[in-house]
Amino acid sequence: MAEAHIAQKSPYAVELAPGDYRWCRCGGSKTQPFCDGSHKTTEFTPVAFTISKAEKVWLCGCKRTRNRPFCDGTHRTLSERS
Ligand code: FES
Ligand code: FES
Repeated sequence: MAEAHIAQKSPYAVELAPGDYRWCRCGGSKTQPFCDGSHKTTEFTPVAFTISKAEKVWLCGCKRTRNRPFCDGTHRTLSERS
């Protein structure tokens, strides 16, 4: 599978109300960190997740986390140029 586009090399801190969300996996969305349908020209699909109580979360912007959709610190391992 191709590498996802890096939207940014840091997480998006967002306050979310309870509900269903779709995290952009491909990195191409214009409404980061959420899916806007841009993945349709890629091999990626969004990651659906549910928030049960209002909370602040850190959603991965580099698209390299192993704990989707949440940042797991992997962005710190990315070089400046990648
Ligand atoms: Fe990136 Fe939908 S726009 S997964
Ligand atoms: Fe992707 Fe932190 S922003 S792991």
